[in-house]
Amino acid sequence: MQIITSVSEMQHYSDKIRINGNKIAVVPTMGYLHEGHLSLIRLAKQHCDVVITTIFVNPAQFSPEEDFEKYPRDLNRDISMCTSAGCDVVFAPDVAAMYNHNFLTFVSVDNISNKLEGTFRPSHFKGVTTVVAKLFNITKPHVAVFGQKDAQQTAVIKKMVKDLNFDIQIIVAPTVREPDGLALSSRNIYLTNGERKDASVLYKSLKLAEEEINNGENSVEIIKTKMIDLILSKPNFIIDYISFNDADTLEELGTIAGTPVLVSLAARIGKVRLIDNLVIKK
Ligand code: PAJ
Repeated sequence: MQIITSVSEMQHYSDKIRINGNKIAVVPTMGYLHEGHLSLIRLAKQHCDVVITTIFVNPAQFSPEEDFEKYPRDLNRDISMCTSAGCDVVFAPDVAAMYNHNFLTFVSVDNISNKLEGTFRPSHFKGVTTVVAKLFNITKPHVAVFGQKDAQQTAVIKKMVKDLNFDIQIIVAPTVREPDGLALSSRNIYLTNGERKDASVLYKSLKLAEEEINNGENSVEIIKTKMIDLILSKPNFIIDYISFNDADTLEELGTIAGTPVLVSLAARIGKVRLIDNLVIKK
């Protein structure tokens, strides 16, 4: 497996792959990889000849109060995990390579970036779409793989790709979970043992919503109240939001109708903020 840190070298490498008629998949990550990321790499490999995993903790998507400096990093460990997952290239630039000192250009997707996570992290998606657009221009992929774990991020990136005519197929991979249902996340290492145990209540609350919907409950308010009661049975939790949205448009729903429903939530426990979601088809 090859490791590339220079933008021009990465572009040159991708040009050569394309000239030879081979297909490129990119898996953008911020590193500190876990089985969720590796499942994306394996899925990418099924669709393309060459898989590029990008590892870059993107300062533009962290607000000053967030954990950019403290975000976990272990490039050597990530590289060996990428190798074992069948990745062909790791692109791991430093911040200076990605953002020149007079960087002035940003990509932002209106409307859907401002809901849900956007309410709590106002400039977050502008940072995500900017870096993902840059990574697309640097790695020149035919296919890009993202995780359902970050459902809104996936919706925002799909919209950017459509609106800006990126000639890239977006593939969404299912969320990989711990046996008790907690979605894998690089931030889970910050949980204390007690918090880690309690954290499974988030997935349980999503499954409760699914059960309610399958039993014919149509009122979002009623389902939400039951979810809140369940989550707050673990007193350390602070809920940022629980939201029911149309899975495609992210339009907020008050009543469960026919379309697939994205139930998403964010909650804080101790110092850690966790997000999770489930798409429920009626
Ligand atoms: P990061 O949080 O490292 O996630 C990288 C990719 O892995 C994302 O597509 C995310 O949805 C996916 N992922 C994370 N946890 C997962 C899980 N448990 N199961 C399946 N997939 C999972 O998301 C980002 O980085 C950044 O915002 C990025 C897109 C790289 C832009 O900086």
